[in-house]
Amino acid sequence: MKQAKVTVVGAGNVGATAAQRIVEKQLSNVVLIDIVEGLPQGKALDIMQSASTEGFDTTIIGTNDYADTKDSDVVVITAGIARKPGMSRDDLLKTNAEIVGGVTDQIVAQSPNAVIIVVSNPLDVMTQLSWQRSKFPSQRVFGMAGVLDSSRYACFIAEALNCSIKDVRAMVLGGHGDTMVPVPQYSTVNGISITELLTVDQIEAINHRTRHGGAEIVQHLKTGSAFYAPSASAVAMVEAVILDSGRVLPCCAMLTGEYGVENLYCGVPVELGKDGVRRVIELPLNKTELTDLQASVAAVKELSKALV
Ligand SMILES: NC(=O)c1ccc[n+]([C@@H]2O[C@H](COP(=O)([O-])OP(=O)(O)OC[C@H]3O[C@@H](n4cnc5c(N)ncnc54)[C@H](O)[C@@H]3O)[C@@H](O)[C@H]2O)c1
Repeated sequence: MKQAKVTVVGAGNVGATAAQRIVEKQLSNVVLIDIVEGLPQGKALDIMQSASTEGFDTTIIGTNDYADTKDSDVVVITAGIARKPGMSRDDLLKTNAEIVGGVTDQIVAQSPNAVIIVVSNPLDVMTQLSWQRSKFPSQRVFGMAGVLDSSRYACFIAEALNCSIKDVRAMVLGGHGDTMVPVPQYSTVNGISITELLTVDQIEAINHRTRHGGAEIVQHLKTGSAFYAPSASAVAMVEAVILDSGRVLPCCAMLTGEYGVENLYCGVPVELGKDGVRRVIELPLNKTELTDLQASVAAVKELSKALV
């Protein structure tokens, strides 16, 4: 069987760790590309030299030449600058827009049938931009944020309940910023909603920590931002596409009327398959959740305007 090909653009913290996870899971061969000469080559060679110890026979190469990315099935865009303490994701807007726009042009030229997963921040606007530049159907361009935000939410829920994280499924909707919307009614421990297990105050504290989960890590690291959980989240999405699994994951996807939102990328649950987003899932939301989601959508719209 032909091995799938995944290109990871950006050989920094998120990109290189995502590449490592993909080959270790034997999901596909990987091309790691970066603008800095030597960086992707060195990291790819280092990862390749772990193959005999880790026991994978997928391959990884590093390059600065987009010709090597030709006919990729999936492309993960992590190129750009990351946050430093005191910076919001939105502060990255102009620099990363130039980078993501340019990267998308190169990807499309080499891999016109690829599925694109955007990771660079500010996520919702970068995903919208990549889709516009690619001229791909919107199903084939989507962004990673909800899987990460939900996995942070799950981590804090398991900690508060002192339960196994394996039983926790958590749901966070909306834009990838301080306005993201953790949804307690759809966050469960083995099917039991956390609204049955935690007090309102406990849930509010966990929601707050989730909304600021990225900033908490930036504060600790001082240089750069989170990358272990972000790379794991992006790879979960790559896996759903490569395996055509139909997993339902919260992703930044194009909304065409769902949740009352027209023509905007925002975080919602979607079903993923080999051609990307099979369908957007519209959850019944209560009044507060809907108001919070509308506020989050408004924040994403406002930020998109800054690019025009
Ligand atoms: N969506 C999310 O949930 C999420 C989570 C974590 C990080 N991020 C974002 O992902 C991006 C990467 O984060 P990181 O921690 O890996 O940063 P990093 O600085 O470690 O790596 C970024 C890499 O991109 C490369 N790059 C810059 N311009 C490029 C170009 N034109 N072509 C190819 N490569 C280029 C840089 O050389 C660098 O190696 C940031 O924008 C960050 O904010 C998003």
